[in-house]
Amino acid sequence: MSNYNIKHLEEYFKVYKKSVNDPEVFWEEIAEEHFSWYKKWNNVLSWDFKKPEIKWYEGAKLNITENCIDRHLRTNGEKTAILFEPNNPSEEAQHISYNDLSKKVNRFANVLKEQGIKKGDRVCIYLPMIPELAISLLACARIGAIHSVVFAGFSATALSTRINDSDCKIVITSDGSYRGAKTIDLKSIVDEALEECPNVQSVLVAKRINTEIEMKKGRDTWLQPLLDKASDVCEPEIMDAEDPLFILYTSGSTGKPKGMVHTTAGYMVYTAYTFKNMFQYKEEDVYWCTADIGWITGHSYIVYGPLANGATTVMFEGVPSYPDYGRFWKIVEKHKINQFYTAPTAIRALAKQRLDFVNKYDLSSLKVIGSVGEPINEEAWHWYNDNIGKKKSPIIDTWWQTETGGAMITPIPYVTPTIPTYATLPFIGVQPALMDKNGNELKGNQVEGNLCIKFPWPSIARTIWGNHKRYKETYFSAYKDNYFTGDGALRDATGYYRITGRVDDVIIVSGHNLGTAPIEDAINEHPAVAESAIVGFPHDIKGNALYAYVTLKETGETRNQDNLRKEINQIITEHIGPIAKLDKIQFTNGLPKTRSGKIMRRILRKIASNDTSNLGDTSTLLNPEVVQEIIENYIK
Ligand code: PRX
Repeated sequence: MSNYNIKHLEEYFKVYKKSVNDPEVFWEEIAEEHFSWYKKWNNVLSWDFKKPEIKWYEGAKLNITENCIDRHLRTNGEKTAILFEPNNPSEEAQHISYNDLSKKVNRFANVLKEQGIKKGDRVCIYLPMIPELAISLLACARIGAIHSVVFAGFSATALSTRINDSDCKIVITSDGSYRGAKTIDLKSIVDEALEECPNVQSVLVAKRINTEIEMKKGRDTWLQPLLDKASDVCEPEIMDAEDPLFILYTSGSTGKPKGMVHTTAGYMVYTAYTFKNMFQYKEEDVYWCTADIGWITGHSYIVYGPLANGATTVMFEGVPSYPDYGRFWKIVEKHKINQFYTAPTAIRALAKQRLDFVNKYDLSSLKVIGSVGEPINEEAWHWYNDNIGKKKSPIIDTWWQTETGGAMITPIPYVTPTIPTYATLPFIGVQPALMDKNGNELKGNQVEGNLCIKFPWPSIARTIWGNHKRYKETYFSAYKDNYFTGDGALRDATGYYRITGRVDDVIIVSGHNLGTAPIEDAINEHPAVAESAIVGFPHDIKGNALYAYVTLKETGETRNQDNLRKEINQIITEHIGPIAKLDKIQFTNGLPKTRSGKIMRRILRKIASNDTSNLGDTSTLLNPEVVQEIIENYIK
């Protein structure tokens, strides 16, 4: 028996032990008993973190959509697979059954084939949270095309960079999107992006907001008429276990975004198995994750993990504040949500509102509430626990990354006792290690260090698209024989983990990872700017916000500083997207630098956090005098 659903703490410890002592036997049983394969593997795992090369279930043949859709049709075809809740509360929700989903995915897959898309081709998806988004991922997977979803809040430049990096042949988008009271003209962002993308041959456009848009002849086609004509039967492409399933970009601390490549079998097994346990999902439950499918959380825990378990998964198009701050709770009541999964930034924003936005609604259906994306602070944890969980539904604080594909350190609800701000224990099969400054593993408990994982798990990203060298350097070079996460963590006396945050130059703003270098590059594009440095500072809703120190060229710049600030934020919006906008911009005559010319971000971080108590020794700086100037002009 494979222990697919862990129910007691003793069982967790027993299964964990087995997964660590005998990983191949363990993961073989899970794969064998709970998934459909056209052919079984020859080898469960081969790996070498030095190269690095990791292969799970090599030799197996499968299609993930057979596992996420077809196999449920035999037993549960009329069950709702996707429950779509529109932005506008007066528009009716859509219940898409597994039978409907199957037809829709097959039609879409046939449309892609007619467009000349075949196994291994890359398909860029730039869509809002409408059913076509989930369906398009599955349609790609059906025919073996590799999807690359770009979050529809990214700018034209960010979109074209991603399209070109993975050489996508086609883009799937919509005429626009609803976001609260606003509409966003997505298609014109795509048009602008495609000016830089000579290899994109066609664009499929879903209709959502029904505005007039320009359709470029020979390139753009409305999606619906093609779907209407297409057959609803499409045989699944037979995929190898290690064939890429998708690419998803994530920011690094330097350079262009990294296209993390996830492959088919291991990703499927791990996301499905974690989903079942993290949420203790039961047959009749209605599960809702509020993330956007543009991020890994949506890929793994809106689409693949839930559907592989035959779950009902909610897709919400709107925002938590529209038409008012009670919207999430209204949806929980309306659809009798059993498991609710969101981000600390949303919790903090909602905790700031009057409690009657919550108390108006019946939340008694909730059994599990989750958090993901950044550390959850103690205050937010208690608010969530008291007011949403009503002190009875456990909070699962799930730590993981785009690169890990699925949750890595997380409580199993009703199994693992929780403590505020702790992600608690490693999930089955996950072997964390904390490292000291010298690169040695810290053994025992009550230690704090850099968080690594020392053994592969099935859904680890296998490479960075087109740049294996960077994959090796980023994740496998800092610590010998270990995957380095970029996060710091502590392990308490009982062996529980608490994630303390990034230890590199990635700043998490409202749950979005932002590398400092790309934002600084954007700022430096402004003709008046000589140099800039970005740091994060604590923000009570976003977790972190961005503080920029900017030096201007000595051109006798006379523009009003507020105008300059606006222009700088405009450039950032164009290059990256509004998520990377700066909260504070301080103009300064210099940036503190070491004698080798490196910007001392540690000092800038302290000043931005309004904590100048212990700046350390600044006398070794090349230009110690600027520190005082920066402190004096600090923006509150
Ligand atoms: O710093 C950690 C933080 O988010 C980073 C990964 O971001 P991303 O790839 O966008 O994936 C987010 C969704 C899985 C991590 O390196 N992070 C994520 N979850 C937590 C967290 N930090 C603390 N606690 C968490 N539960």
